[in-house]
Amino acid sequence: MKVLAAVIFVVSCAVPLILAQSDLQFVGRCPNVTTKANFSETQFKGRWYEIRKFPNQLIPGDCGSPNYAQQANGFNVSYASRNITQNRNYTDSIQLKKQVVGPVPGKYDVYNRNVKERIPHFVLDTDYNTYSLVWGCSYTSSSNTNTQRLFLYSRTNSLSTATINKAIDILKKFKIDHNKLRNVVQDDKQCARKK
Ligand SMILES: *[C@@H]1O[C@H](CO)[C@@H](O)[C@H](O)[C@H]1NC(C)=O
Ligand SMILES: *[C@@H]1O[C@H](CO)[C@@H](O)[C@H](O)[C@H]1NC(C)=O
Ligand SMILES: *[C@@H]1O[C@H](CO)[C@@H](O)[C@H](O)[C@H]1NC(C)=O
Ligand SMILES: *[C@@H]1O[C@H](CO)[C@@H](O)[C@H](O)[C@H]1NC(C)=O
Ligand SMILES: *[C@@H]1O[C@H](CO)[C@@H](O)[C@H](O)[C@H]1NC(C)=O
Repeated sequence: MKVLAAVIFVVSCAVPLILAQSDLQFVGRCPNVTTKANFSETQFKGRWYEIRKFPNQLIPGDCGSPNYAQQANGFNVSYASRNITQNRNYTDSIQLKKQVVGPVPGKYDVYNRNVKERIPHFVLDTDYNTYSLVWGCSYTSSSNTNTQRLFLYSRTNSLSTATINKAIDILKKFKIDHNKLRNVVQDDKQCARKK
């Protein structure tokens, strides 16, 4: 009996590991945030590189590098990433459509191959030529939980510690749990990129 109990214990502990790439859930409502004041799509467009992110279902791998193409109503994003252990590249086509309620600049609904995602895309902050903080949240009233996605981007494949700390300060201000951020591999060799 003891052995069986131990086996059940181990199996149930293993479940969160298998689901490691699901989106992060938190208790309660979504944090209240503000987006970048006077957000400029023209300045934001172009290539970004993921430096830190929450584990998530949409772009689970490493080497994440979205290219934002400006559209009449938002962006088309060609999102390159790579599963290093599989040795495989991925390219996701994502559309960002401006949220029209409000309207507050920097808020978008996300469509992955024309299917709307539950979690939207808010540009919390950016200086356009160094870093940007992209976040989204969806509240589920039945379980009183919220699900969040978070990406810290850089214009290059690295970001200074000072800038990372600046981004973390912004997250603290909004009560977003920066401790759940994971490092994203952007090493050119591991990402199979030629310099
Ligand atoms: C966000 O603000 C609204 C309105 O002020 C408030 O009702 C809600 O409780 C706040 N949410 C959190 C998570 O603080
Ligand atoms: C945003 O734009 C308004 C109107 O042009 C201006 O008054 C304000 O200072 C701007 N805010 C920032 C943070 O740039
Ligand atoms: C990479 O692929 C492996 C094998 O399919 C999978 O177990 C792993 O979860 C993937 N990693 C990421 C980050 O998606
Ligand atoms: C943006 O994506 C949509 C949907 O995939 C497509 O219809 C449209 O042509 C794209 N626009 C550009 C400029 O690529
Ligand atoms: C994988 O993607 C990188 C760019 O991220 C590219 O340089 C490389 O050629 C791709 N490899 C394959 C097998 O497509």
